[in-house]
Amino acid sequence: MKITVVGAGAVGASCAEYIAIKDFASEVVLLDIKEGFAEGKAMDLMQTASLNNFDTKITGTTNDYSKTANSSICVVTSGIPRKPGMTREELIGINAGIVKTVTSNLIKYSPDTILIIVSNPMDSMTYLVHKTTDLPKNKIIGMGGALDSARFKYRLAEALNAPISDIDGMVIGGHSDVGMVPLISNATRNSINISEFVSKERLEKVKQETKVGGATLTKLLGTSAWYAPGAAVSGLVQAIACDQKKMFPCSVLLEGEYGLDDLSIGVPVILGKNGIEEIVKIELSEADMKHLHESAEGVKKTNNLLAL
Ligand code: LAC
Repeated sequence: MKITVVGAGAVGASCAEYIAIKDFASEVVLLDIKEGFAEGKAMDLMQTASLNNFDTKITGTTNDYSKTANSSICVVTSGIPRKPGMTREELIGINAGIVKTVTSNLIKYSPDTILIIVSNPMDSMTYLVHKTTDLPKNKIIGMGGALDSARFKYRLAEALNAPISDIDGMVIGGHSDVGMVPLISNATRNSINISEFVSKERLEKVKQETKVGGATLTKLLGTSAWYAPGAAVSGLVQAIACDQKKMFPCSVLLEGEYGLDDLSIGVPVILGKNGIEEIVKIELSEADMKHLHESAEGVKKTNNLLAL
């Protein structure tokens, strides 16, 4: 299976690295507009193959989309990342143009591909792809919830002083500092509700820390994070490539589900060989449903800036 990753920056390269290390794809093509950059990253990564025991072939190209032809899955990480103090929404002007060009080029050479959108503001970029391409809705997936859920589990494990493998939890809603909806009331430690182990106040802190998870890292790093975003994307790619039918929260086009319509926002879905196999409708508490709807209003406001 051939997979393309557009953008050989930190997120794109990490994503390619995690895909290669998991060794389920025959080929990963990295594409970047910066002369020689993707070729260099691909060569460096290939020189880890004998050390990390993978056979995935990674190649790089400077903006030659013919090299991406017949990719089963294409990941779009291109665009500018946020700087400290910036919101994801502030990137919309530049990134919308980039995402539009990149996705139309990808589809020209891989008309049956499944697209995973990572560029920010991710929910609006995913919506833009729905509006500007002819791909069916099951083939357009926004990556945000898988990352936010990983950050949620990290914070929960910290609060409980427990190993992360004991913890389960999910974040739905928009991939933004205000829009994330960490499902505290559904989070568990070994199937026992999390509220049995930690105070309400501490859980409120976990919720806030989760929502600003990306901003906290941007402040520390001077640019946005890459390891967890790359790992989260590789998880989605593997679920599709290996037809795992795994459940992740992903940004998908809603048409009435959860009482929402005409936007792309994070809800639980099943990922398999067709991309989104199913949108899972779970019972939400009244408070979480209210937060999801408030989050949707925020995403729609950002969508209005797209001038579609
Ligand atoms: C983050 C970026 C990928 O949350 O949106 O780190």
